[in-house]
Amino acid sequence: MRRRQDRPHPQDRDTFWLETASVLDWITMPTKASDVSWKAEDFRIKWFEDGVLNACAECLDRHLATRGKKTAFIWEGDDPEISETITYEEVFDHVCRMANVLKARGVDKGDRVVLYMPMVPEAAYAMLACARIGAIHSVVFGGFSPEALASRINDCGATAVITADEGRRGGKTIPLKANVDRALEKAEGVRLVLTVKVTGGETSMVSGRDLWWHEMRDEVTADCPAEPMAAEDPLFILYTSGSTGKPKGVIHSTGGYLVYVAYTFGLVFDIDPDKDIYWCTADVGWITGHSYMVYGPLARGATSLLFEGVPTYPDPGRLWSVTEKHNVTILYTAPTAIRALMKEGDGFVKAHDRSSLRLLGSVGEPINPEAWRWYHDVVGEGRCPIVDTWWQTETGGIMITPLPDEPMDKPGWATAPLPGIELSLVDQEGHRLEGDAEGLLLITAGWPGQARGVYGDPQRFIDTYFSAYPGTYFTGDGAHRDAEGDYRITGRVDDVLNVSGHRMGTAEIESALVAHPAVAEAAVVGYPHDVKGQGIHCYVILQSDVQETDDLPQTLRQHVRQDIGPVATPDRVQIAPGLPKTRSGKIMRRILRKIAEGHPDQLGDTSTLAEPEIVDTLVADAQRFT
Ligand code: PRX
Repeated sequence: MRRRQDRPHPQDRDTFWLETASVLDWITMPTKASDVSWKAEDFRIKWFEDGVLNACAECLDRHLATRGKKTAFIWEGDDPEISETITYEEVFDHVCRMANVLKARGVDKGDRVVLYMPMVPEAAYAMLACARIGAIHSVVFGGFSPEALASRINDCGATAVITADEGRRGGKTIPLKANVDRALEKAEGVRLVLTVKVTGGETSMVSGRDLWWHEMRDEVTADCPAEPMAAEDPLFILYTSGSTGKPKGVIHSTGGYLVYVAYTFGLVFDIDPDKDIYWCTADVGWITGHSYMVYGPLARGATSLLFEGVPTYPDPGRLWSVTEKHNVTILYTAPTAIRALMKEGDGFVKAHDRSSLRLLGSVGEPINPEAWRWYHDVVGEGRCPIVDTWWQTETGGIMITPLPDEPMDKPGWATAPLPGIELSLVDQEGHRLEGDAEGLLLITAGWPGQARGVYGDPQRFIDTYFSAYPGTYFTGDGAHRDAEGDYRITGRVDDVLNVSGHRMGTAEIESALVAHPAVAEAAVVGYPHDVKGQGIHCYVILQSDVQETDDLPQTLRQHVRQDIGPVATPDRVQIAPGLPKTRSGKIMRRILRKIAEGHPDQLGDTSTLAEPEIVDTLVADAQRFT
């Protein structure tokens, strides 16, 4: 067993990263590692600048000679009776054809293509087809509303959308194509909607714009040369929430990103491409679905399982029955799923043979020690290490995690940074904290997988991540470091919520609420939720001429759900006569958080508020929630 303290941290990081870059084949090997400055006046992030590669070819073409007949994807349908295996050769064939369809309809290098897909293999084909021709994909989670989809299509100026007739999840269908049609009423510039037939449900097609994938795939050949791309050319954009404003389109590069996910995938999961059956339960709409379901596994020639459904359908034993059915060796999932399944008792787990499992992973939110122990002791029968991986959309790949051959002695701790990654903890004023301390988590040296910018708004990228503590990257997370140098992530320190592993800005929910005619003002905070991690608590002030009715909270919940999507549905709506504000009019969120958390005893000094008595009213009314 290796000690975490003995991880080899390179002195000369540029040499280390340049050596690490040989995890890929490259068309032209880079000779230079980094050119990075995080100073606002001189800002640049470049990795492997003179390298040339194609991400799709790295994931497919280079494996064909040795692994062509090997399974690239196992697809497990929502319906437990349906599954499929797809070899590297087959994926290559599908991807080249899809790339040719895009090309035939004028999609070019650098064009943006929005993917709004269910969890079917075609979602991965679409990502790789874009990468093959140098188009930039932007996957929008299939649970987002037409409004949210439209705003992303407009923001990145997409000219094509790839979608499906309908998605399937937990026995229900989701009208994806109909949502695209509604979104396109509010978005201009889309000339092509390539639609995959998944359910065969009734779908209307707009002539001249919409094409069926199953009709087009035989009209083109599977001969599609991969476009040589500069390492710094963007590979994809992914929208993610921050503490202010609308979601940002985070840009990832081709070379640095792919090196980083191939490096971390190999190291953290200790992958043996010839033996492992690896299953990441994330949705393709999130960064985990990009880095560790598609790009990382395929860059390494591994077998990746794609799951269309949900862990609780047809029953809460689904993860374990799929593990047994496909002999899964590595399972990578989110604490919210673990907590939900833990509630159902051990019976569903033990009903299935899990002897194939050798490694478990956790991602997306802090894992509480109780859930960790259940995952370790019951699911993994005490024999599987757990890699609790901390990272973010912006980091591209895993940054802090235990490694499988290290002691599993700290449940709930993400522990130590990977070789090549440099961290620091600071207090609010930016003073560096040493030794055992709790503070704000910063990253102090560049790494190849880091985001390159915010699409269409370079200044916002600098302002959001690099200006609070100049010269460093601010993660937005708090952490506790112990005397041994291990880290436990305590959660977001900004106005970002993590609800069932889904990242959401309170500002987005507030703006959805105030868009309703009955609402004058809204403030949204998170509170601890035993399954979802955090729940959404909304304080709402009505317009003066609106009367409160019993069904208004439910109407407002539905309104947010419609506006953003089901993941943003508020758990609690508290109609309030006012909000605690400073005399200068700033909402005191700290007080609202404490009330929602059920800790009115910890409000601190409220005497400086403009109307201190409002607090008592809010506290008294909030008691019905706790
Ligand atoms: O707060 C951290 C939490 O998720 C945030 C990033 O969310 P997102 O960009 O959606 O990416 C999720 C998948 C990587 C982080 O700022 N987070 C993620 N992983 C962990 C975590 N918190 C604690 N422990 C983790 N393992």
